[in-house]
Amino acid sequence: MTTALYPGSFDPVTFGHLDVIRRATAVFDKVVVGVLVNPRKSPMLGLEERIAALGDALKEDGLDDKVEVRGFDGLTVDFCAKIGASFIVRGLRAVSDFESELSMAHTNRKLAPDIDTIFFMTALEHAYLSSSLVKEIAAFGGDVSRFVPAAAVRRLKR
Ligand code: PNS
Repeated sequence: MTTALYPGSFDPVTFGHLDVIRRATAVFDKVVVGVLVNPRKSPMLGLEERIAALGDALKEDGLDDKVEVRGFDGLTVDFCAKIGASFIVRGLRAVSDFESELSMAHTNRKLAPDIDTIFFMTALEHAYLSSSLVKEIAAFGGDVSRFVPAAAVRRLKR
C-alpha cells in the first residue's frame, strides 16, 4: 500500500489544490493532506478552519473516503515517517514554482533518501491561481467563489 503526503499551508484550499489531490488519489492507495502549522507565517485562516475547509470540500467532491486531512508541525519528512508515507506530492504551476520546489525536493531527499517527491502539473485552468491572491481579493471583499470551494468561501467571509 503506497501512501503519499501532500503538504502545504492550504490558506485557503483552492480548486488547484483539489485538482492535485484528485489526481494523486488515482496514483496512490492513500493520500494524506498535511496542513502545516507554520510558526513563520501568520495565516488568514486558523489551522482548524483550514482543515475543516479541506474536509468539507473533499466531501463535496466525493474524495473523503480516499483522503485524510491532518495538521502537522515540524519537518515534512518527519511527518511522512510518522504516517508511513514514502512519497511527497506537490503541484507545479509554472516555471516560477520550479526553483523553490526543486530545492525543497532535493533537501527532503537528503534528509530522507527513502522519500521521493512526485510533481503534478497543475491543470491549465488553475495555473494562475494562488492562495495569496485569493486572500488579497477576500481581504478587499472581492468574490473568490471562482477560485476556492464554497467551504473556504464561507470561512474567508467570516
Ligand atoms: O503551501 P506551501 O506554503 O507552499 O507549502 C510549503 C511546505 C509546507 C511544503 C514547506 O514549507 C514545508 O515542507 N514545511 C515544513 C518544514 C520543512 O520540512 N522544511 C524543510 C523543507 S525542504
